[in-house]
Amino acid sequence: MIFSAERFDRSCVFYCILFCVIFMAARTSADQSIPTENARISAGAQVFSKSCLPCHGSNSPAALDLTDPIALRRRATTAAQIVRDGLMPPWLPSESGAPLKHSRTLSAIDRAALLEWLDQNAPGKILAVEVPPLPPQMCVMTVRVAEDWPVGADPGMTLRSFAIAQDPTMNPEGPKFFKAIEFVADAPGVVHGISFLWDELGYAARLDASNPAPGYDAVGDIGLQVSGSGGGVSRLSTIWRLPKGYAMKIPTTAVLVAEVHAEGRGKVESPAGTVCFVGPDFPFKLVHPIAISPSRPATIAAACEAVSISIRAGSRVQSIDIFAKDVKGQLQCVLNIPKWNERLGEPWMFDPPLALNAGTELIVQSTLNADAVKTPLDAHAAAMSQPMIVVLVADKDANLIREK
Ligand code: HEC
Repeated sequence: MIFSAERFDRSCVFYCILFCVIFMAARTSADQSIPTENARISAGAQVFSKSCLPCHGSNSPAALDLTDPIALRRRATTAAQIVRDGLMPPWLPSESGAPLKHSRTLSAIDRAALLEWLDQNAPGKILAVEVPPLPPQMCVMTVRVAEDWPVGADPGMTLRSFAIAQDPTMNPEGPKFFKAIEFVADAPGVVHGISFLWDELGYAARLDASNPAPGYDAVGDIGLQVSGSGGGVSRLSTIWRLPKGYAMKIPTTAVLVAEVHAEGRGKVESPAGTVCFVGPDFPFKLVHPIAISPSRPATIAAACEAVSISIRAGSRVQSIDIFAKDVKGQLQCVLNIPKWNERLGEPWMFDPPLALNAGTELIVQSTLNADAVKTPLDAHAAAMSQPMIVVLVADKDANLIREK
């Protein structure tokens, strides 16, 4: 009895083990055959979800919804081509400059997976991405921009500047500060970018008043003050945020100048939208602008940290290089854009902030593209064929501004 019971137990154990071994072997081989194919394909779909859908969802800033598999498959060849051309995901700076925040550059592995998937006409499911809505911002100032300026159907880039007075009732006690700017477009995609400037001299208001239509037909620059000195937004980054611990000032008496760059999309549209200047977190260091261009280098007076860099340049510009030349004559590449694209420009943030010693010279070099040399130069094209660059810096030894 005891023996047979033991035998029963043993055989049971034996069969159990045998069963398990067969079962697991079957599972392993299944894992290696059918699902591997899926895993390989879905790697591309995953890259697509992560790297493309934040801008190509429904109601996307790019105004091109690629979440519908049929719409995507119709464009899969184009999509693969523009990924190969380095145009998507949009990111113009090369790796040779100082490290930048929120880089969209794809790793070689992700890029290969994405291209393989697009080349196979984007098979299988697309994983939807939830872009969480931004939490409500604490706006120290909210303005409407580019109102009553119809942007025509023509696909060419166009710009207009607007002088926007501050609401005096909103500013009872001294200057205000902001750490971020958020732009919410009425119709996403019409406006490519807005660069801001605070005018304390009253020039912009006079220019705006002298033109019967809202705004005026010129760049926002005022004398040596360059548009973008007060930050900027683009459809690629609708919220522009300084790193933690930095903020900018809204001078009490200044008029806000908004230089709006827009492009027609086959019908007359309004580029209008709402801009919120988001209040700062105390304490912070105050950030101020340094404007440079190929004909106007700048020398850093006091040791500082550069936090942001933005560029305005027209379609004639090919490459842009920005160098920091120290007192010993050593050159460091700050930003390199091998192939400028006016449509894909946006403000970039240094991460970490870039330390610049006193005496360092900031130098810009740029080249024009082959088409530019052939096409005639009107006043607007001439103004935009020299890149204008704004670097926002905080002095290294600046006092921290604390809440009163
Ligand atoms: C930061 C936002 C953003 C991201 C991320 C992004 N795109 Fe775009 N995409 C745009 C914008 C803006 C346009 C419109 C470009 C223009 O007007 O020149 C565009 C245009 C396109 C077009 C249409 C081009 C044409 O000529 O018809 C395709 C296709 C496209 N993107 C694919 C992709 C793919 C694939 C990815 C991911 C690898 C991607 N995009 C990531 C913003 C984005």
